[in-house]
Amino acid sequence: MAWITDARLAAAVSEAGGLGTIGPNAGTEKVTSDVEETGERLRSQIRLCRELTGKPFAVNFVVGVVGWDRKYSDRCVEVGIEEKVPVAIVSQGSPAVYTERLKQAGMTVIHVCSTVRHVIKAEMSGADAVVVSGTEGGGHSGFDQITTLCLVPQASDATNIPVIAGGGIVDARGLTGALSLGADGIYMGTRFIATRECPAHDNVKQAILDAVDTSTMAIKHGSPVPMAVDDNENRGFVEERRGSIRMLINDYLRRVMSKEGVITSFEQAMQGDGESEIPSESNRTVDAFIHGNLETNSITSGQGAAMIWDIPSCGELIETIVGEARPIVDRLGAIFR
Ligand SMILES: Cc1cc2nc3c(=O)[nH]c(=O)nc-3n(C[C@H](O)[C@H](O)[C@H](O)COP(=O)(O)O)c2cc1C
Repeated sequence: MAWITDARLAAAVSEAGGLGTIGPNAGTEKVTSDVEETGERLRSQIRLCRELTGKPFAVNFVVGVVGWDRKYSDRCVEVGIEEKVPVAIVSQGSPAVYTERLKQAGMTVIHVCSTVRHVIKAEMSGADAVVVSGTEGGGHSGFDQITTLCLVPQASDATNIPVIAGGGIVDARGLTGALSLGADGIYMGTRFIATRECPAHDNVKQAILDAVDTSTMAIKHGSPVPMAVDDNENRGFVEERRGSIRMLINDYLRRVMSKEGVITSFEQAMQGDGESEIPSESNRTVDAFIHGNLETNSITSGQGAAMIWDIPSCGELIETIVGEARPIVDRLGAIFR
């Protein structure tokens, strides 16, 4: 979760028994176009995380969609290798790009997928495990809007490597449900925004607490460049793109929609409502997530926000989820007995 999964949040999750993940640009507040600086920001977060926990943690490397400038991700991968990061969570792109390099450097590689085809590709590329994230999830959650309920069993059937379920999981019901569907573990994004250690602004945490079942929508995101239909590698980007990034609907998005009639893409949503400017040293993500300006921004969030009611520490959260799973399993056992 770019900008907000910093060393402190990652270390808190790992200390609590999860696998905390440092995201791109975490721990900073200013946008940079400097490749070196991007890498050094990551390096300092990795080192801080090591000071805060002796437990394993991960770094998220974003491959990037077609048309994306990969030099930033390339530098982050180099830094991750130099710093001997134990686990790489690679997302938003082909597993063919970084898997081999990361494996050769000794990392455990988990590739994030949103279709069965991508799961098979990740296994063939040498990934150690996959995250499959359904459309319920916040941020980029796949072009095809496959639900976690349908994706996890199919992914489990399609691969021999461990499957970690994401998208809409925020509590023990999600954990036990995912395990029932064939998952080996769970992956949570939105839930960790509403934790004490997350550096997101209080307005963002409050927006998550205020969300109801209909508060989010998936909109298109990615390269505006049409790709050749026979380009197998980039197929995902020419297929009908029904939605890929899930946003929290707020008054800002409503204003854009009322002006434009309909929001056709993330890029359009981020162009603004014609009344607000993006601060030059910032971008809409920083402005919203770090500075808490939700008047002229929206945030990405999963549907699970509607089931989040509190702001615990990461330790309390993980303990509660695991503790509440047991009675659910007992209840299921009783039903079948
Ligand atoms: C605010 C936000 C930002 C995200 N940014 C990233 C990112 O930078 N890289 C990535 O791989 N996934 C990103 N994701 C997706 C999450 O890693 C994860 O797949 C998703 O949150 C799981 O679904 P959930 O939100 O229902 O827990 C983001 C999710 C959110 C909510």
